[in-house]
Amino acid sequence: MKWFGNRAKVAPGLPIADNVPKHIAIIMDGNGRWAKKRGLPRIAGHHAGMKTVKKITIAADRIGVDVLTMYAFSTENWKRPREEVDFLMKLPQEFLSIELDELIEKNVQVRMTGWREELPEHTLRAVEQAVEKTKHNTGLILNFALNYGSRKEMIDGIKAMMADVQRGSLDPNAIDERLFDSYLQTAGLPDPDLLIRTSGELRLSNFMLWQLAYSEFWFTEKYWPEFSEEMFYDAVREYQRRARRYGGL
Ligand code: FPP
Repeated sequence: MKWFGNRAKVAPGLPIADNVPKHIAIIMDGNGRWAKKRGLPRIAGHHAGMKTVKKITIAADRIGVDVLTMYAFSTENWKRPREEVDFLMKLPQEFLSIELDELIEKNVQVRMTGWREELPEHTLRAVEQAVEKTKHNTGLILNFALNYGSRKEMIDGIKAMMADVQRGSLDPNAIDERLFDSYLQTAGLPDPDLLIRTSGELRLSNFMLWQLAYSEFWFTEKYWPEFSEEMFYDAVREYQRRARRYGGL
């Protein structure tokens, strides 16, 4: 497994290089309300949110975060109106057509967590191309959670384990937390150290329920399109002030 945790960089005005979270996961919420406040259609909020994705990716890379997971579309988001879903499904393509060259230059590795099957062809193609072109990059992992939901992820993982048990390739006594990890969509990635959610909502919305067991949470009232690098660094500074005890003393 890849060793995480050696990318922390020192720079003036940034959070201290010591103890930079290896994995930061973000629930990018509030695009719709941001747009409504400005009398714009909801999709304008998502489009503005895409620009924040770029800003925060660069910021995460600057301070040496290893993995940045962005919750871009949940398994429940299919229930939204058709036009909004269609628009959201076009964003990865637009984002990557504008940003992929710079991401490659910055040695970023693009990944996707979620089920590929239900995605429209054009969305999947854009993501797969970016994943393929960046697979040997060794810098920041930019992980899009796309068509992702945690409960389904765990059920699927359990089903796959049961199939392996039935086939005789897995001894049920060998099942432990690490093994379960390896059956999840996030296999191979460290658990998030820090979860950020924007827009004032204080819930997990079926996001990485298993992986966030010991993560630090940081919430802000700001909507995702107005979330800034400075706020991101504030979240990291706050994380650095916290004592993580993992149930110990
Ligand atoms: C939640 O806000 C946000 C989403 C469901 C979509 C998030 C997607 C982006 C920020 C763009 C993704 C970009 C790429 C490159 C894939 P909401 O619409 O639920 O906000 P609301 O609660 O105010 O209605």
